[in-house]
Amino acid sequence: MKSLSQRANGVTPSPTLAISAKAKEMKKQGVDVIIFGAGEPDFDTPKFVKQAAISAINEGFTKYTPASGTKELKEAVVAKLQRDNKLDYSANQIIISCGAKHSLYNCFQAICNPGDEVIIFSPYWVSYPEMIKLAGAVPVVVTTKEQDGFRPSLSSVTSAISQKTKAIIINSPCNPTGSVYPEELLRQIGEAAVKNDLWIISDEVYEKIIFDSKEYISIAALGEDIKSHTIVVNAVSKTYAMTGWRIGYLAGPAEAIKAMGNIQSHSTSNPNSIAQRAALTALGGNQEEVSKMVVEFEKRRNFIVEKLKEFEKVSFHKPEGAFYLFLNIGSFLKQDSKGVKKINNSVDFANYLLQEAKVAVVPGSAFGADDYIRMSFATSIQDLSKGLDRIETALFRVGVF
Ligand SMILES: Cc1ncc(COP(=O)(O)O)c(C=O)c1O
Repeated sequence: MKSLSQRANGVTPSPTLAISAKAKEMKKQGVDVIIFGAGEPDFDTPKFVKQAAISAINEGFTKYTPASGTKELKEAVVAKLQRDNKLDYSANQIIISCGAKHSLYNCFQAICNPGDEVIIFSPYWVSYPEMIKLAGAVPVVVTTKEQDGFRPSLSSVTSAISQKTKAIIINSPCNPTGSVYPEELLRQIGEAAVKNDLWIISDEVYEKIIFDSKEYISIAALGEDIKSHTIVVNAVSKTYAMTGWRIGYLAGPAEAIKAMGNIQSHSTSNPNSIAQRAALTALGGNQEEVSKMVVEFEKRRNFIVEKLKEFEKVSFHKPEGAFYLFLNIGSFLKQDSKGVKKINNSVDFANYLLQEAKVAVVPGSAFGADDYIRMSFATSIQDLSKGLDRIETALFRVGVF
């Protein structure tokens, strides 16, 4: 076979795939595996949203739309940003893409030159470094710590900025830590970006899944200067339990958005027409279902937090948003244990839990933090309870550690 591109060879395969494939295989064979790996709400898409899609099909809304999305959906996004985030954009500052992942991909392709640096905070969402590399740029990782609530200090941000820095990515609420950045920190990062003329990529896909009655603040709302440097990334995926529909969007300066639209026009062309109709209905319709889902996520967050407080040898930052808890399992690593082969890293640890507890979690190495595992609480309290009991037995009762 002829050789592949350096680009393709440079992409790291996801270390999480092997474990989730194993968990699925075990499930298929009838093993009662509890999955704490889900990256999506376990709720169904609201009925009225599904109905809008059915109507779109029946009406024959099944042809190409403009490559960057329909005018109606862009206007619905404009109205949403005004209603929820007090942000004023016009339709030519919006592009609709095939999920936030695609939005981010377009974004890096449009702003990065080879050798440019993009600052990301670890623990980071798995795809950021790979997408940055696919755009020829270099991810520069700034580590955040559990004891700081996984929030970066301003000095750690400014000392990572170099002549080559092109952008900073913010993801609040964060996947995988559930950390939410306070207004003051957002303002500091925003001002540093403006001063150094950097792009701010604000990934807001978990915006609505926020607990303890906190109000969500978009960094773009903190002043015109900051807004003019920001690309807001969002999607209907997590908010409306619409992960499979693949609709995400970007808002930003018109010239940048136009460049992203050009790139999209030569790759996917328009996002699915039917899903665009469904997204239009979701964004403009009754938001009650969203609130109900968040109440349920908060109950589960409280449940998992209380239960894990009883565990010895682990620690965590109480998630303030999203539906993940990032558990520090560092004290179990690299120690001799009876009966199991030495557990060297988070992949070994996740494999141990899968074998011994029949619980699937995601190893922290996927997020650049090997002392951790990610546990998703996008699953019922009943399963959370059962899964946590099994983990407790596997870690503390069988006398392995
Ligand atoms: C932080 C973050 N950004 C973006 C995405 C991608 O969202 P979408 O499903 O809309 O592509 C995800 C999905 O897991 C995510 O966790």
